[in-house]
Amino acid sequence: MRKEITFLRRGQIVQLGDIAPTLTLLDYLRLTEHAVGTKEGCAEGDCGACTVVLRKTVNGRLVYQPVNACILLAGQADGAEVITVEDLADGAAPHPVQQQIAQQHGSQCGFCTPGFVMALFALYHAERSAPLERGKVNDWIAGNLCRCTGYRPIVDAALSSCSGAAADRFAARDKDATAALRALAGDDDLFVGDDTRFFAAPASIEALANLYAAHSDAVLVGGATDVGLWITKKLQTLPKIIWLGRVRGLDAIEDGPDAVTFGAMVSHEAAIPSLAAIDPDLGELMRRFAGKQIRTVGTIGGNIANGSPIGDTPPALIALGARLRLQKGDAQRDLALEDFFVAYGKQDRTEGEFVRSVEVPRLRAKEHFRCYKISKRFDQDISAAMGAFKFTLDGSRVATARIAFGGMAATPKRARLAEAALAGADLANEASWQPALSALARDFTPITDQRASAAYRGDVAQALLRKALVEVGGTATPQTRVVGIRETADASS
Ligand SMILES: Cc1cc2nc3c(=O)[nH]c(=O)nc-3n(C[C@H](O)[C@H](O)[C@H](O)COP(=O)(O)OP(=O)(O)OC[C@H]3O[C@@H](n4cnc5c(N)ncnc54)[C@H](O)[C@@H]3O)c2cc1C
Ligand code: FES
Ligand code: FES
Repeated sequence: MRKEITFLRRGQIVQLGDIAPTLTLLDYLRLTEHAVGTKEGCAEGDCGACTVVLRKTVNGRLVYQPVNACILLAGQADGAEVITVEDLADGAAPHPVQQQIAQQHGSQCGFCTPGFVMALFALYHAERSAPLERGKVNDWIAGNLCRCTGYRPIVDAALSSCSGAAADRFAARDKDATAALRALAGDDDLFVGDDTRFFAAPASIEALANLYAAHSDAVLVGGATDVGLWITKKLQTLPKIIWLGRVRGLDAIEDGPDAVTFGAMVSHEAAIPSLAAIDPDLGELMRRFAGKQIRTVGTIGGNIANGSPIGDTPPALIALGARLRLQKGDAQRDLALEDFFVAYGKQDRTEGEFVRSVEVPRLRAKEHFRCYKISKRFDQDISAAMGAFKFTLDGSRVATARIAFGGMAATPKRARLAEAALAGADLANEASWQPALSALARDFTPITDQRASAAYRGDVAQALLRKALVEVGGTATPQTRVVGIRETADASS
């Protein structure tokens, strides 16, 4: 059993033993190291001013991950190298990314600049299968906000500095870094603190099950992209934390012929290729899920376990017929994902039980899927409503439908009345869709909140169902494709 959180910093091993379990990486950097180049803007993962990079090995490959230090627990850096904006310059020479931001006038007041620099530093080191273009850069900086410069010069700086292969002093030492990180990694359990107050990171499912059984009052942490805000915004003390990031196998993706199984700790970013392979709409949904920094650490398990009525993956996975696997001690049970969501803030999860994985069926012949996210801002925003649809067709008729919405009820929820009303509807005859469109008003009684009014949500749910039917029926026009990239995906297939 290891008693200290251990990570690399500027070539040195840092060991943290006596810390609050909720210490954030940002507070460690600013208050302990006095490395104040990394800024605190929003303290809730939105603005990206606190972006730092974790260099770590994932499945044997060295990766540079941009993360929001404001809501990342210091313990989540265990086993990684922490790189901050102060570290980039090579002697007196700024990093190519910094050089270009300065040359392209990509900074004014400068508050956001360290965060942009670090996001671009991660992009500079990212593997690329296609030439870098503006849209890709936009994806990489969707999690960074600038209030004065505007984004064009920053994107220009990215295009001119990040288009080639990485050739900075970090790339030159990638082999040494891999060796140093390997030496740091261990398969021992991590437990910092005592029985009343701890940050723990078990290394195996068995160790996790035992620890959680003994401390069912502990808070499980996946990426902390929700839990981090309980700390920074709700000022909760959370004396016992069990981080799942070191549990072997919990981040595995099993790509089977009929289904894909995602371990609870699969990050949103890691899930994108497998989800996009099930259906391109899922890839687009995940591209618009938060920004890179959040997707890098936020997990599929956390998005389900938090039970949020506006989480993006649950409606999509429910419509696909996903099944959830829970574990308590060594006992496991499976349930349909929709049955996990009992009521607002209440899930079918007993004390000491944790989410282990979710199995997502692939689409079979005659099955068609669509999903659409509606949010006020296109990127890096939480859904006001989210609709997901799976139709099984018999010729031009809908044989069966699975429809699920987020943002329409206290939980992610199936539209069972609309599903029933759609059976037998003809894609070529819009009048036959009407009973299902009307049934949505009986399936849901949405609320009005800061994201949307109840009336808007009701209207948009109908519009999304209609859009899915139009698209699957093959009568879509550019006007019906406003949300999504389907036409590009369809054109290339
Ligand atoms: C800036 C920002 C943007 C966001 N954008 C989106 C968005 O576009 N769409 C969206 O859906 N969400 C969004 N979120 C919310 C959040 O990122 C997601 O819900 C994310 O999937 C949570 O995963 P996590 O691993 O970080 O969860 P954590 O914060 O680690 O945990 C969340 C909850 O799940 C529990 N938990 C975690 N793992 C397990 C497990 N294996 N078993 C049992 N319980 C577990 C925790 O105890 C906690 O109650 C956003 C958040 C931020 C800060
Ligand atoms: S301070 Fe805004 S994302 Fe961290
Ligand atoms: S330069 Fe001022 S916020 Fe971006």
